[in-house]
Amino acid sequence: MSDIKLKITDRVGNLHEVDAPTDMAMNLMEVIKGFELVPEGTIGTCGGMAMCASCQCYVTSEHDLPEMEYDEKAMLAEAFHVEDNSRLGCQLNITPELDGLEVTLAPEEL
Ligand code: FES
Repeated sequence: MSDIKLKITDRVGNLHEVDAPTDMAMNLMEVIKGFELVPEGTIGTCGGMAMCASCQCYVTSEHDLPEMEYDEKAMLAEAFHVEDNSRLGCQLNITPELDGLEVTLAPEEL
């Protein structure tokens, strides 16, 4: 059993409950992209390098998340719509600790 459950609210307010594999070295942005929860081309613009903020999401569950690395902090310092619970999806690896994680995608930056 290597899947975890995630609750992801998309940019138009629809809740998606998805199973994400912990053994495929995926991050949250890739899961959102893989399940096509947002229109193609509107997430993962930088390829997961913490350089675009297209994968920004608000973490609404009480999970103990890994500390942000410098790149993630720097990108969120420049991005729009940033809240205290903002994280970059591409910097959150899918691990068993994230089981039950709830996130809401931030609005698209135009
Ligand atoms: Fe660009 Fe996450 S995909 S910052």
